[in-house]
Amino acid sequence: MKAWFARDYGRPDVLRLEEVAKPVPKPGEILVKVHATTVNSGDRRIRACDLPPGMKTLGRLALGWSRPRQPVLGTELSGVVEAVGQGVTRFSPGEAVYAFPGGRMGAHAEYVLLKETGPVAHLPEGVDMQTGAALCFGGTTALTFLRRGAVRAGQSMLVLGGAGAVGSAMVQLGKLAGAHVAATTSAGNLDLVRAHGADTVIDYQKTDIARLAERFEVIADTVEAMDFATAQKLLTPNGRYLAIAGTLKEMLGSLRKGPEGKRMIAGPADERIEDIVELGRLAALGQYRPHIDKIYAFTDMPAAHAHVDTGRKRGSVVVQVAQ
Ligand SMILES: NC(=O)c1ccc[n+]([C@@H]2O[C@H](COP(=O)([O-])OP(=O)(O)OC[C@H]3O[C@@H](n4cnc5c(N)ncnc54)[C@H](OP(=O)(O)O)[C@@H]3O)[C@@H](O)[C@H]2O)c1
Repeated sequence: MKAWFARDYGRPDVLRLEEVAKPVPKPGEILVKVHATTVNSGDRRIRACDLPPGMKTLGRLALGWSRPRQPVLGTELSGVVEAVGQGVTRFSPGEAVYAFPGGRMGAHAEYVLLKETGPVAHLPEGVDMQTGAALCFGGTTALTFLRRGAVRAGQSMLVLGGAGAVGSAMVQLGKLAGAHVAATTSAGNLDLVRAHGADTVIDYQKTDIARLAERFEVIADTVEAMDFATAQKLLTPNGRYLAIAGTLKEMLGSLRKGPEGKRMIAGPADERIEDIVELGRLAALGQYRPHIDKIYAFTDMPAAHAHVDTGRKRGSVVVQVAQ
């Protein structure tokens, strides 16, 4: 089978398409023939070794000091079960699935091995392969931070960066939770963010967000658009600033409360099977739909990375691995 390898850190042209042995499922594992995957901000961060300040040493220790320890990137996928290992009962060959290997990655390949009890679920009826591949990266992050931020019906939430993979999921899932959602984006994406359900859309190039008159119970910052000190001015008492794109500084800062019970919440998103299943359920109901910006052929993986590198992608960038 073929897989894309990042044998070094660097620009998209560091990626190489290599031939490797097709894996064989061991007991309890399933082999999935990948139909679609995505290139997301996590893939590009690892490929480029673009680690935030304060995370350079820790990040390299975790990801690989001089090259990625896991050279096959790709956090999410959809596909069809090709074979199952001994003892597998949840899945059978021929069934359509979607999966979120998440930090373990490996989805930028023609085949992927997954534990049957791992982050994989049946693709619901009516959800296509491209959508299935794009459900989890933004979706699980949004569900994690909605949970940690205790976002409830009737609360007001400001999403900073409403057009990205995480931001567009935050807008849709925040609305589903019953929040009143305002979201920032550039002029070209106002309609898209509105279509995802935002009650108010704000062009951050025309409006100084830090000087908004409105106050919010939750600010979900998906693009490091402000810091906690600025966020405090826009939060109601007991308000929560979700530093989704935060670094070590935000994680340490989240350990103590600000004035009037205002809090910063940061850290890696959960990778929970319950969230993965829930995203599929919502997609089948038409209540959550990741926006697909562009679909690239598998052979064009470096071009897909280059598009993500611009920092301007809308929603998800999908790579079609098989028809
Ligand atoms: N905590 C976690 O576990 C976790 C998990 C996933 C992702 N993340 C982090 O979350 C961040 C977002 O990820 P993503 O995948 O959603 O990124 P993305 O899809 O690449 O974000 C691109 C979007 O950001 C928007 N944007 C950029 N600057 C902006 C600004 N100043 N104000 C408003 N919008 C802006 C752009 O819209 P315009 O063109 O309209 O500006 C574009 O649509 C990344 O830093 C990623 O590392 C964290």
